[in-house]
Amino acid sequence: MDLPRTRHNPWRGLFLVAGLVACSLCPASAQIYINPEFLKWFVGEESELIVMDMPKVVTDISWHRGTQPSEDTRIISYQPPSKTWAPGPEYNSRMNVTSYGNLYFSRAEWGDTGHYTVRVATDREKQTATALFQVGEPSGKPGLSLNATSVAEYLDPVLATCHTDATKVLWHVNSRLVSSNDQMTLSPDNKTLTLHWVRRYDSVQCQIVNFKDEVQRSELIVLSVTYGPYDVSLWSKPQNVFDTIGAEIGSKVEINCTTLSCWPSPKYRWTHNGAPLSYSGHSITLWSLTKEQLGRYRCVLENPATGLSLYREVIVDRPRDSLQADSSFHLSGYFSGVLIVLTFLGGVSLCGLLAFKLTQLCSARRNPVLQVPTSDL
Ligand SMILES: *[C@@H]1O[C@H](CO)[C@@H](O)[C@H](O)[C@H]1NC(C)=O
Ligand SMILES: *[C@@H]1O[C@H](CO)[C@@H](O)[C@H](O)[C@H]1NC(C)=O
Ligand SMILES: *[C@@H]1O[C@H](CO)[C@@H](O)[C@H](O)[C@H]1NC(C)=O
Ligand SMILES: *[C@@H]1O[C@H](CO)[C@@H](O)[C@H](O)[C@H]1NC(C)=O
Repeated sequence: MDLPRTRHNPWRGLFLVAGLVACSLCPASAQIYINPEFLKWFVGEESELIVMDMPKVVTDISWHRGTQPSEDTRIISYQPPSKTWAPGPEYNSRMNVTSYGNLYFSRAEWGDTGHYTVRVATDREKQTATALFQVGEPSGKPGLSLNATSVAEYLDPVLATCHTDATKVLWHVNSRLVSSNDQMTLSPDNKTLTLHWVRRYDSVQCQIVNFKDEVQRSELIVLSVTYGPYDVSLWSKPQNVFDTIGAEIGSKVEINCTTLSCWPSPKYRWTHNGAPLSYSGHSITLWSLTKEQLGRYRCVLENPATGLSLYREVIVDRPRDSLQADSSFHLSGYFSGVLIVLTFLGGVSLCGLLAFKLTQLCSARRNPVLQVPTSDL
């Protein structure tokens, strides 16, 4: 609907005239160039050097090795008007010029790397363009390997190797790009990464950038990390008070040891007063406590994968109540002993007093004031 109005725009005619004037003064076409996005190819790939801004009417297109186009360096030329191809001294059967004027390689080879120059002729002018064509090895997805299947947390080092022919290698630990630091060291070529210590859940991945600047990542490996034990909890029935379980002779006693920080699950060992017991589970049950079973119990948690072990101890003793009964008995015994001694001492002192009194009497008698028969003593 707007079209008729535009058509009647008075400026439009003016621009058209200006354009026609400009075209008759300027070169007929823009400067040609070789598409820079398609200059890197892998060995064996079908590839093409693409001419951009090619003039509409071309009389001759010739491709040359190097930067100086001459008959000596000519690979092949093509005349669009006659649709004829003419190979030159640098011609190779893997190469040809397409009808669009591009240099086509049926298969790129290492030796093709180098500068190429195209010369395009029209009725009016000749234009040239040069570009560096590069052929490299493809770098596929890199391989990643570790020198250990399982490592102990904070204890073992692990060496990761990135298998690739790429020269640019980067590493990701826990999905973050890393460089050498106090936990890890990269080799000078970045192909190996040594983790001096690891934490559980640590993951490793290498990444390569090939010469076409394409990024490829290896698989991501989550390290198999063993750890602990770092803690031991002890539970018992009857419940322990600090390090003592009070239990009656003949009652049932259960002791459990657990840990929250151990992988794989630890091995358990138990000792009673230092002597090993045959239990190997995380708990022991004394079904009917005997006097001989009183004493110190120790559970030992061992993780063979980390080489770490921890233990907890608890004493099984008769409850405080019966302990008090015992002590009160001992106390009363003590008191009765004291009483006997006191009674004895009291008796002795009474006798002494009596004897003293009697001596007094006797001497009085000798004086002679009083006379008591000796049989009275
Ligand atoms: C180049 O390609 C054209 C078109 O496919 C073909 O006719 C011509 O023979 C080829 N020239 C050479 C030298 O291979
Ligand atoms: C893995 O490599 C590191 C670093 O070289 C080394 O310290 C460690 O012992 C190796 N581990 C094994 C299981 O070979
Ligand atoms: C090696 O890795 C570091 C740190 O990520 C990086 O800066 C450097 O460019 C890499 N060097 C090579 C040759 O890949
Ligand atoms: C001890 O462990 C056993 C088995 O896991 C469980 O049945 C029991 O309730 C535990 N006892 C205590 C006192 O934690």
